[in-house]
Amino acid sequence: MPDVAVAVVLAAGLGTRMRSPLAKVLHPLLGRPMVGWVVEAVREAGCAPVVVVNHQADAVMAALPGCRFARQEAPLGTGDAVRSALAVLPEAGPVVVTAGDTPLLTGAAIARLLAAHAAHGGPCTVASFTAADPTGYGRIVRDADGVRIVEQAHCTPAQALVREVNSGAYVFDAAWLRANLPTLTPHPPKGEFYLTDLVGPGAHVCDGFAELDFLGVNDRAALAEARGVLRRRVNTAWARAGVDFADLDSAIVEVGVTLEPDAHVGHGAILAGRSHVGGMVGPHSIVVDSRVEAGAILHAHSIAQDAVLHAGAQAGPFARLRPATVLEAGSHVGNFVETKNARVGAGAKANHLTYLGDAEVGEGANVGAGTITCNYDGAGKYRTVIGARAFIGSNSALVAPVTVGDGAIVGAGSTVTRDVPADSLAVGRAPQVNREGRAPDVRARARARAGKTP
Ligand code: UD1
Ligand code: CA
Repeated sequence: MPDVAVAVVLAAGLGTRMRSPLAKVLHPLLGRPMVGWVVEAVREAGCAPVVVVNHQADAVMAALPGCRFARQEAPLGTGDAVRSALAVLPEAGPVVVTAGDTPLLTGAAIARLLAAHAAHGGPCTVASFTAADPTGYGRIVRDADGVRIVEQAHCTPAQALVREVNSGAYVFDAAWLRANLPTLTPHPPKGEFYLTDLVGPGAHVCDGFAELDFLGVNDRAALAEARGVLRRRVNTAWARAGVDFADLDSAIVEVGVTLEPDAHVGHGAILAGRSHVGGMVGPHSIVVDSRVEAGAILHAHSIAQDAVLHAGAQAGPFARLRPATVLEAGSHVGNFVETKNARVGAGAKANHLTYLGDAEVGEGANVGAGTITCNYDGAGKYRTVIGARAFIGSNSALVAPVTVGDGAIVGAGSTVTRDVPADSLAVGRAPQVNREGRAPDVRARARARAGKTP
């Protein structure tokens, strides 16, 4: 007997009902492919996964590190799929078989099925549940001949009304499986071999599983439903670990994300990729591969991608932090500010309508509303350096490469094309001219031009 049971995960099907060029089992749910959820569940139950692949095999294998694989030559049904895994199955002992399209599967459900199989002692145990709507599932039919599974397509009207259905998860005795798989015969019209035909007299049905744990995803409606259930499960687990959620249903936290106790996740926030959040993420903000440290705030409707907000930093609402943005402690980036490859020093502020690209903003500097770092000349990208405590007046254009020294002041509306020495005042705009009393004259000429009487 091997130490751990092997679990065969069937993932070779075409998934035609998804109407997608992507293999069904690769459709992502919270940053993990559908079949990845099944693999995690069987591992949680202590099983070693063997994944049966065919359609988009290379992509499926690449998505499942640490698994063993068996290749099904052609997708000739679930029975044929298990047959193609025989070469890597043990000679004896329990073998779990489960479908790769039931992403809500839990380790506890598989553990329960394994225990029932051991207790019953028969060659085959199948998990069943009572479906609110059994459409699409194989029905568990019990009559004088014992138990069997009748697929939707082959149901009599009476059988179609049966609500106890096949979950698609089984435990077989390995030796019995080897002896009996060759007895399967193909079903017209597609010539598929049904694994379900192995469930007959002598099989044990372990019933009462939760319908939700075995939701079979065959189309996009079920995919979206599964996504909703997983979202709530993941969020609830984080909430139990101390994370504050404005709403458990609307926030999306992908599986690669880590959170600290007391982090806050706003309504409809999306935390994706390899993000880490210890601070606050406001409603409808999107955080991808970014760090929001404890004490940092990303206000509502902001986007952070490959960005870091150190403790005490704040961004948004409506900020866009693009890759390689670092907001140091206590810095503020306000509404309609875009940053890219930019470091905003401790306590520095760029509060309104600004673009900081390829820029370094020194400690305590103030970047006025509407300031643009002109980092691109149509061919290359260049850096703007703003010194510590510098003051950039509103609506300035800093044409890179350019440096504004520590403590310098740039007058509002300036176009800065040359370096500004430390503690200097730079004004780069047309000087203002006042012509006293000229306004009525200008107005009269304008009216005459428009054909209006004086
Ligand atoms: C299957 C069961 C049905 C059960 C339901 C539970 C059969 C004949 N029917 O139906 O009784 O109620 O699951 O969800 O088994 N696959 C392969 N190779 C193939 C065909 C399928 O690996 O040649 C894989 C698919 O990728 C999928 C799984 O097996 O992950 C189930 O296949 P699917 O076609 O979805 O079966 P259902 O019609 O849902
Ligand atoms: Ca299915």
